[in-house]
Amino acid sequence: GRAQDLAGLRVVISAGGTREPLDPVRFLGNRSSGRQGVALAVAAADRGAEVTLVAAHIDGDVLGGLSDGVKVVSVGTALEMQDAVTDAASVADVVVMAAAVADYRPAEVAESKLTKETQGDRVTMELVENPDIVAGLAAGRRSGQTIVAFAAETSSGDELLQRARRKRERKDVDLLVVNEVGWTRGFESTDNEVVVVGRSGEVSAQASGSKREVADAVWDAVVASRR
Ligand code: C5P
Repeated sequence: GRAQDLAGLRVVISAGGTREPLDPVRFLGNRSSGRQGVALAVAAADRGAEVTLVAAHIDGDVLGGLSDGVKVVSVGTALEMQDAVTDAASVADVVVMAAAVADYRPAEVAESKLTKETQGDRVTMELVENPDIVAGLAAGRRSGQTIVAFAAETSSGDELLQRARRKRERKDVDLLVVNEVGWTRGFESTDNEVVVVGRSGEVSAQASGSKREVADAVWDAVVASRR
């Protein structure tokens, strides 16, 4: 088996995609499956960590891949995710935000279902910004706590790396795991390809393969950054 190099560590992983309600039956959402986050949870548990997964709308068949002993907290919206992650982070050594969090939510949630009769043939919707959860965690981090963010980028090559460095700095996270996504890659596929950028802008890991292989590379980078 693998080295128990995460033994004694409490880790929190967020995964899936938040849904921001518009009315009782509709939401603004995204295509995140939660597979990479579940793979991170399974890998961390295998390496000895005590794992909490904060899950937003992950299908049962994906969650079914989790190992026993991983604690799951289910959330719906970005604000619910912020509460759950902040709570779990208060005792965590490592927090990995792999979830696709909605940047905006509807300013108002209609009490009853919106209809064409009341809305007419053109609809304008006001959105308000959600808090940046991972930036908030990084700003309030305890000493010895490692904060990891993900970034899905549609750019590639040098531009991808430049954007990743700027994003890592802006959020002040210890590690930024960046992957190139498009209409046909990333979110719903079983494979992934990532670059991990560290505090000094260096590429601290690079991995491509199954989401489990990518997860192990991310944990390798976390372990190396904590030495
Ligand atoms: O800025 P961007 O959305 O690309 O950053 C992605 C990273 O930030 C992910 O780790 C995601 O979980 C996190 N995030 C967050 N709160 C938000 C938006 C994104 O923690 N409101």
